[in-house]
Amino acid sequence: MTDYTPRPEDRFTFGLWTVGWEAQDVFGSATRPRLDPAYSVRKLAEMGAYGVTFHDNDVFDFDADESGRDQAIGSFRKALDETGLVVPMVTTNLFGHPVFKDGGFTSNDRRVRRFALAKVARNIDLAAELGASTYVMWGGREGAESSFAKDIPAALDRYREGVNLLCDYVREQGYDMRFALEPKPNEPRGDILLPTIGHALAFIETLDHPEMVGLNPEVGHEEMAGLNFAAGVAQALWHGKLFHIDLNGQHGPRFDQDLRFGAGNLRGAFALVDLLENSDYDGPRHFDFKPPRTEDEDGVWASAAGCMRNYLILKERSAAFRADPEVQAALERSGLTELAQPTLAEGETLATLREEAYDIEAMATHGFAFEQLDQLAMDHLLGVR
Ligand code: GCO
Ligand code: MN
Ligand code: MN
Repeated sequence: MTDYTPRPEDRFTFGLWTVGWEAQDVFGSATRPRLDPAYSVRKLAEMGAYGVTFHDNDVFDFDADESGRDQAIGSFRKALDETGLVVPMVTTNLFGHPVFKDGGFTSNDRRVRRFALAKVARNIDLAAELGASTYVMWGGREGAESSFAKDIPAALDRYREGVNLLCDYVREQGYDMRFALEPKPNEPRGDILLPTIGHALAFIETLDHPEMVGLNPEVGHEEMAGLNFAAGVAQALWHGKLFHIDLNGQHGPRFDQDLRFGAGNLRGAFALVDLLENSDYDGPRHFDFKPPRTEDEDGVWASAAGCMRNYLILKERSAAFRADPEVQAALERSGLTELAQPTLAEGETLATLREEAYDIEAMATHGFAFEQLDQLAMDHLLGVR
């Protein structure tokens, strides 16, 4: 690979809300006009994307009547049919309208919870119609600003009730669909339920159908919590729970920056691409970023193109890193092969281990050569090897 041209087989997908973001923020109004979803689909297809994803209200308005809804979906579908772009994932907007100010599945107001479930179920039907196999649940408003406002165990009961009901719904309808929970520590709520990959993994095990529910982790969300994203994704893979992924960029713990993929923590992005490309994850490489508010429409597409280009560059750098004989020797020297071996040999028991059998001095002075290994990774990332 030399030209880093994205192709559908790279499985790059974009949320309609990413390129379509009008760039309004907490301090200022929109700097860009609304993009018609069908226009974004055509544009992304030209750029080599594989698919798009959306919230219900990215395609039709929250208060659209039946005919408005059908018309909007029709024009979006037409663009999909014409371009061959697919919709591997769909999600619900349970955060934009004021009715969701205290959340959807976990609002203290029972009426809101019932409304939210109905809204999701209806959109699951649309997702199934469009062939989506993953349904994302990002609980951005599921949380609180003050500790006494939310009874966490009760809220988790309601969260679980909601996810269980929706799993039942998918089974009853016979849809081939799995759910992916998207953790985030804060923003827009002061504290959000299921704040990290770890919290969400533990929650999933309490569900009626844990096999139907996995994760949609996002780079920026784990890094907002000061966590190592690639390490979290590695654990999600280890649990068989990486159902989908949100790629973007973030400069450490601060507000959710949603930079284009590769911006922000570049070394983290390299480790992530290296992990994904050497794993059995074969799902979409989904970008959930926000072209900065300073950009006009050209800047939006440049930002989207940058996401794909950076992924492809890092993929190439990872392949070169793995193929380098010096790296292979360094991995060996650093004990990576040894770590893959079980600690006890076949037939051994804990009782066979004798403390006196070990040369403590030799073990204590043994260097792991991680610095040499890491510098090789750095050289490959920087393109000097
Ligand atoms: C955010 C989230 C969202 C979700 C999206 C899908 O921080 O704004 O990442 O972009 O990914 O709502 O449910
Ligand atoms: Mn985000
Ligand atoms: Mn996201």
